[in-house]
Amino acid sequence: MPRPALEVRPDLAGVAPYLSPQLVAAHRMNTNESPYPPPPALVAELLMELGSVALNRYPDRDATGLFEALAAHAEWSPEGLWIANGSNEVLMHLFLAFGGPGRTVLVFEPTYALHTLIPKIAGTGVMNATRAESWRIDLDTAAGIVAERRPEIVMLCSPNNPSGGTEPLDTVRALLEEAPGIVVVDEAYAEFAPRDDSVRALLSEHSNLIIVKTFSKAWSLAGARIGYLLGDPLLIRALTRVRLPYHLSALTQTAALVALRHSEAILSSVERIVAERERISVELQAMGVKTFPSRANFVLFQIDDAPGVWEGLLSKGVLVRNYSDHEGMRNCLRVTAGLPEETTAFLRAMSEILDD
Ligand SMILES: Cc1ncc(COP(=O)(O)O)c(C=O)c1O
Repeated sequence: MPRPALEVRPDLAGVAPYLSPQLVAAHRMNTNESPYPPPPALVAELLMELGSVALNRYPDRDATGLFEALAAHAEWSPEGLWIANGSNEVLMHLFLAFGGPGRTVLVFEPTYALHTLIPKIAGTGVMNATRAESWRIDLDTAAGIVAERRPEIVMLCSPNNPSGGTEPLDTVRALLEEAPGIVVVDEAYAEFAPRDDSVRALLSEHSNLIIVKTFSKAWSLAGARIGYLLGDPLLIRALTRVRLPYHLSALTQTAALVALRHSEAILSSVERIVAERERISVELQAMGVKTFPSRANFVLFQIDDAPGVWEGLLSKGVLVRNYSDHEGMRNCLRVTAGLPEETTAFLRAMSEILDD
């Protein structure tokens, strides 16, 4: 076997790259994007604005206009805001600044795979705890681990991907109080949950809370790569040390600014997506399939021979996410709530597979 001139960093040798199959399928219901493209008025305005972007010049390094506009939208100070190329990069900046060798993050499995992968890439120790029966975090167990092991970073995800439930605010509050460092709550799917489920109300009371959000889901802009976080300005200022200069391109800044001007029209699709989520849950239950309650834009369900069902769906043009090989998630599949006709195609395929 030919060998590379230099082996990868030893601590990355056992780390598998992120893999979510991007297969060709008529109905792509596997990556929790919005099925709705951004509104035509947004696209028209964006195309016009792009015409005057000075591509020969570096962009505004501090993206001042965008920070101000997003701060106004989020009703938080620009100094307590951080924006990057998708919430994955936001998380990478967080772990480069606050994780790293000698520091540990506590992650409750099953959850979003990048909550483990990103800290590892940044050289952070990862402590994986398991969720209780209903995929909820058991507060006593969690508080016990935090008190005993003192992880510098506690990672939460609400609604949780892939299970779909939100974390009770009392759990988050208790962990904020127990944690020796920061508690990061990934709210990538919060727009699909009742407003009161968000930890946003805790932000001004807890200087160790960081909320991570994205334009990739409810905002219909996964392709633009825009994510952000809200937190205490005293923490946020450290992030300028780890970002690369000009990390937000002029194209990205323009897209985000235009999107903010159209936020109401973009977010009007949330209700339709939530209706499809509910339809999926109800219809799957009617077929005798076990579903898990979701407040996100997807539904996790459990079914005998999930790998076979996944193949069967794909052969009928429906691509969902297979979690069968994930620890503790035997026979689980996750389907993204999409267009009404996609739900229909998915449910019809499921019913045919179950009838066979
Ligand atoms: C919980 C969670 N956080 C973050 C992301 C990534 O979002 P972004 O596209 O903003 O990097 C995802 C994407 O699936 C996710 O499920």
